[in-house]
Amino acid sequence: MEQYAIKGGNPLVGEVEIGGAKNAALPILAASVMTDDTVYIENMPDVRDTNVLLSAMSNIGVMVKREGRHSVIINASQISNLVVEDEHIKKIRASYYLIGALLGKYKHAEVALPGGCDIGCRAIDQHIKGFRALGAEVVIEHGLIKTNAEHLKGNHIYMDVVSVGATINVMMAAVLAEGATIIENAAKEPHVVDLANFLNSMGANIKGAGTDVIRIKGVSKLHGSEYAIIPDQIEAGTFMFAAAVTKGDVTVKNVIPKHLESITAKLLEIGCEVEEADDCVRVVASKPLIHTHVKTLPYPGFPTDMQPQITVALALSKGTSIVTESIFENRFKYVDELTRMGANIKVEGNTAIIDGIERYTGASISAPDLRAGAALVMAALAAEGFTTVDDIRYIERGYEDFHLKLQNLGAQIELVDTERELQKFKLKTG
Ligand code: EPZ
Repeated sequence: MEQYAIKGGNPLVGEVEIGGAKNAALPILAASVMTDDTVYIENMPDVRDTNVLLSAMSNIGVMVKREGRHSVIINASQISNLVVEDEHIKKIRASYYLIGALLGKYKHAEVALPGGCDIGCRAIDQHIKGFRALGAEVVIEHGLIKTNAEHLKGNHIYMDVVSVGATINVMMAAVLAEGATIIENAAKEPHVVDLANFLNSMGANIKGAGTDVIRIKGVSKLHGSEYAIIPDQIEAGTFMFAAAVTKGDVTVKNVIPKHLESITAKLLEIGCEVEEADDCVRVVASKPLIHTHVKTLPYPGFPTDMQPQITVALALSKGTSIVTESIFENRFKYVDELTRMGANIKVEGNTAIIDGIERYTGASISAPDLRAGAALVMAALAAEGFTTVDDIRYIERGYEDFHLKLQNLGAQIELVDTERELQKFKLKTG
């Protein structure tokens, strides 16, 4: 079984190039089926989630042609099936973006409901409410979410919770509805804006993405486009915090510093230096880390997808810190693993109370989900001794070449598949 073998203790030093944003790529790939013209997407991350979505698209008759590792040409003029029931698709949340995209274009879609619940209950009531408001019938049967409409008609929709997924899904369907749609209490994440920009580049009429009111005027048809996906805010933030926990000096390149403001603010608070340039940020951690408090919030607040990474840093910071998770109710599962590495963290409901320790010690641990997996690798890089991290398939869902990028920064980390390879790594780094 593949796992990461890590020998901790090296500060991360150097430069790392950030890829395209997974959470922008997923809706953009789904939205590319909304035209019969050809769409060309660049800066696509080569990660498991995007690959699963592309293969599900291919299975319903979408032409998917890769050009190199990070570009893809998509043509959906020959879609043969509006039922997406691929065996892998229910393993990724973003499968449901095909509902909004196919419903918008064909007024009908049946997509396997995403299963699994790694970070908490993930309701879809707001997606359904939005589709119904646009005139679609929605039923859930035999593990599929089935939507159907005579025609879609714009409406005024107030989201009860700020939801990235529901904002994106309803926006896609509304683009090809008759008349105007207003989505209030919309999510403002950079990937919501990126999708709106992509749809506008295909001829959609969307205004206000990035604010909490999105106004859409329906158009009858979308056309082809060439589009480059924005850099990944969370991959960038992960490397920024990896610099902090390993007392390193890392320049994170190809980023949009504005998207990283809440992350930068916390790094400054805990005693790191952060230098910003046009498209890169440098994080230097030369002093002991200081405790702070943080609460996860929708953008522009501190992202829930960075909660495990900041917790790993705060567990090494002097004093007591409090982390409050306000988006998902079960996103502290990794704390047990961190405790096995010596962390002193008590979780009560959606709050973690952290008493800083001097250092982690290596252990055999498992990644419980994507971001927590990356955060545990960071802890291992800062730890004394060896760590093995299992279940790295979660990490591969959203980080391209994670261990190779870390190796480039001086980390002692390898992907090993057998006990023999692990022993070899231990001998080499021992
Ligand atoms: C997206 O998930 C991201 N996934 C998640 O990233 C991210 O953690 C999350 O947004 C929050 O930023 C993708 O973009 C593919 P939500 P999503 O709908 O859209 C509740 C990662 O690590 N809610 O914004 O599923 C929900 O239960 C992943 O890359 C409803 O109540 O999240 C949650 O408490 C993990 N009803 C809150 O809203 C609904 O209909 C936010 O969820 C929808 C959501």
